[in-house]
Amino acid sequence: MRHLIEIQDLSVKEIDEMIALANDMMAHPDQYWDACAHQKLATLFYEPSTRTRLSFESAMLSLGGQVLGFSDVGSSSVSKGESLQDTVRIVSGYADMIAIRHPRDGAALAAALKSRVPVINAGDGGHDHPTQTLTDLTLIAREKGKMSGLTIGMCGDLRYGRTVHSLLEAMCRYPGMRFILIAPDALRLPGYVREMLEMCGQSVQETEDLDAALPELDILYMTRIQRERFTDMAMYEQVKDCYILTPERMQRARRDMTVMHPLPRVNEISPLVDDDPRAAYFRQAECGRYIRMALILKLMQERDKAHGLVPAGTVWAEHSLCPNARCITQAEHSVRWGYRPGAHQGDRARCIYCGRGVSI
Ligand code: NCD
Repeated sequence: MRHLIEIQDLSVKEIDEMIALANDMMAHPDQYWDACAHQKLATLFYEPSTRTRLSFESAMLSLGGQVLGFSDVGSSSVSKGESLQDTVRIVSGYADMIAIRHPRDGAALAAALKSRVPVINAGDGGHDHPTQTLTDLTLIAREKGKMSGLTIGMCGDLRYGRTVHSLLEAMCRYPGMRFILIAPDALRLPGYVREMLEMCGQSVQETEDLDAALPELDILYMTRIQRERFTDMAMYEQVKDCYILTPERMQRARRDMTVMHPLPRVNEISPLVDDDPRAAYFRQAECGRYIRMALILKLMQERDKAHGLVPAGTVWAEHSLCPNARCITQAEHSVRWGYRPGAHQGDRARCIYCGRGVSI
């Protein structure tokens, strides 16, 4: 079965085809009104959401399908202590596809391992958010007309921002990209994502200075400081307003720069920037509905194709857990821990759920 757990589960060709399909769906929605008739999508949201859950539901309804699920774990058996994998086993008997959001890194793969229907990761902890990335790529293709040779500034919470991790993992497969990572020291990109960028051989610069980076950018990707992922609230207070985009700052940027944000925003973009034609974040959110329509249709069409879920060479550990305190294996001990040994000598082994490097 085909799932979408990380953005690397899709080839560049598949992503490009899906963007073309989403554009066609945007132009001719009536041609797709019954493409998923009688099919059901379950949305299991263990964390708050507005755009992701509603755009999934809107996408399925726009394809003539139906939706069920929960957006508040307090109203589900999770509040009685039911495990993630038990819930997914049950729901995969009630729905034809599942979109899941969960606060733990790696939860989407743990869910997919027990599901009888395709699972889509709608955000797992600070790990990945592949459907936001498809949304972002659709917007970039529409605004820039190309997916290569772009200078992209990623600004804000690069440590916990899962949309940043997935977008970098996707964009580094397109040629000639230059990434400028703009963050305070406490919010720098995690090592495993940086290593992946370095392995791709793309140009990567790190800085704390947004003003200096601005004139160079084709795209500025702003992010919210992820308050809910901080264990040290004093640290959150220190960094929470580290970057605020204002009309004055926008004067330093190129006239054709595109400002993106996965939303919700808190303080990081002044509402006074919204009327600037370069502010693309509301257009970006709208792309989410159509690219999720394209994804649902693709996974429905490929439901019966065999597709390996566990990476080749996975080693199942009998008596140990992933050392990442936020990994799903730390919260749910019935999820069996597995790691993928490094491909080459000197490469680190990685947890199959959250991708963290581990010493074996
Ligand atoms: C993002 C998320 O949930 O990771 N929101 C979204 O899905 N559009 C970004 C965020 O919450 O900051």
